[in-house]
Amino acid sequence: MKTINRFDQQAAEWDNNPGRVTVAQHVAAAMLQAVPFASTWRALDCGAGTGLLTLNLLPHVAELCATDSSAGMLEQLRKKIAAAGIRNVTTLLWDADAEACPRAGFDLVCSSMVLHHLRLVPAALQRMTAALQPGGWLAVADLETEDGSFHPDPTGVHHHGFAPESITRWLAAAGCADISLRSAYTIIKPDATGAEHRYPIFLATARRG
Ligand SMILES: C[S@@+](CC[C@H](N)C(=O)[O-])C[C@H]1O[C@@H](n2cnc3c(N)ncnc32)[C@H](O)[C@@H]1O
Repeated sequence: MKTINRFDQQAAEWDNNPGRVTVAQHVAAAMLQAVPFASTWRALDCGAGTGLLTLNLLPHVAELCATDSSAGMLEQLRKKIAAAGIRNVTTLLWDADAEACPRAGFDLVCSSMVLHHLRLVPAALQRMTAALQPGGWLAVADLETEDGSFHPDPTGVHHHGFAPESITRWLAAAGCADISLRSAYTIIKPDATGAEHRYPIFLATARRG
C-alpha cells in the first residue's frame, strides 16, 4: 500500500500560512549574508516544496533546480513559475532519503526546514554534498533541538531539531570544509498548551572539499 505523503495533501494550502513565508524570507536573507552568491551560479534547493526559499534566492543565481519528494508540492511551484513567466527554475522529483541526486555539479545546494523530515540525515547530507562541484557551497537551515512541540501533527517528522555539534560532525563526514553555523531566525508561536514558545533555526554553511 502506498504511504500518503502529508506534503501532497497540504500542498495547495501550504503558502496560506504567513509564518512559512516569513521563515523562508529570513532563511534566504541569512543565506545571502553567509554565502558569496554569484549571478552565474547553478543552484539546487533540496526539499523546495512550493518554492518559498527557491523564489527568494532566484534573483541571486542564474538558474535553480527545485527538488522535492512530494509531487504535489512541486506542482504548486510549477503553477507559480508558469504564472510569473519564470524560465530559470526547473523542478525535479528527488527523495533525498533514498537515492543519489540525479543531477550534479551545482555551485550551491540549499535547503530549509527539510532535515527534520528525513530519516537518515548524515546520508542525505552526503547526497547533497555530492551534488556540488568541488568548492561549491552548501547552505542548510533547520530547527535547533526542540522539545517535540513544534509539530502538532508529528506525521513525517523524524527529528525534534538538531544539536549544532551533530550537524558539524555530519558535514565533516560528508567531506565538507569551512563549516560554519549561525542563527538564522527564531520562530515564536504558541505550543499545544497555548504558551508562547521560541524555536530557533540554525543555518549551517560549508564548502565541498
Ligand atoms: C517544511 S517543508 C519546507 C519547504 C521549503 N523548503 C520551504 O522552506 O518552504 C519540507 C519539505 O521537505 C520535503 N521533503 C520531505 N521529505 C523529503 C525527502 N525525503 N526528500 C526530499 N524532500 C523531502 C517535503 O515534501 C516538503 O516540501
